[in-house]
Amino acid sequence: MITRSMNPWAALAVIALVLSGSQIAFAQGGAEQKQRSLYDRLGGLAPISVVVSDFIDALVPDAVLNANPAISAARKRVPAPYLKYHVTAQVCQATGGPCKYHGRGMKESHAHLNITKSEWDRMVTIFKEILAKHGVPAKETQELLAIVDSTEAEIVVSGGGK
Ligand code: HEM
Repeated sequence: MITRSMNPWAALAVIALVLSGSQIAFAQGGAEQKQRSLYDRLGGLAPISVVVSDFIDALVPDAVLNANPAISAARKRVPAPYLKYHVTAQVCQATGGPCKYHGRGMKESHAHLNITKSEWDRMVTIFKEILAKHGVPAKETQELLAIVDSTEAEIVVSGGGK
């Protein structure tokens, strides 16, 4: 690109052009990496809704959780599709997606269920199984678990021991 016969100013201009080009490419690369939300890495709303649907389908009939009479009664009263809708919106929003969660707060919607720490652990085990079944990578699994963990203090009302 730069030849012996080239005017030095032209050579400088070429160097400046190449450098600024690579800086732009570098800046764009950085921005692209920053913009890749967990929502995008999970593949967006369609795969998120499938994983949430499977998760709720696994939770609803679970014998360990339904040994708690308050949970069992709520399962009979509250339609699974309603929970799927709300939890999908919640996960979509929490992972940086375009949805808005319009359901109740976690404390308000779970307080009457008397959820223990051991029931919480059971739910986390099922959640991990569902993520593994769908091939969610380790990094994204950890980030989803951190989101779920952030709600534990509002949902678990007793230390358990059950
Ligand atoms: C052991 C753990 C959990 C159990 C047994 C459980 C069970 C339930 C049940 C039975 C309901 C219906 C309550 C009712 O309306 O009477 C409910 C509501 C709901 N749960 Fe959970 N849940 C658990 C953890 C979570 C977690 C970790 C999340 C999300 C981070 C979540 C999100 C929701 C949402 C969005 C609703 C609906 C709120 C509304 O009605 O506006 N739950 N849950």
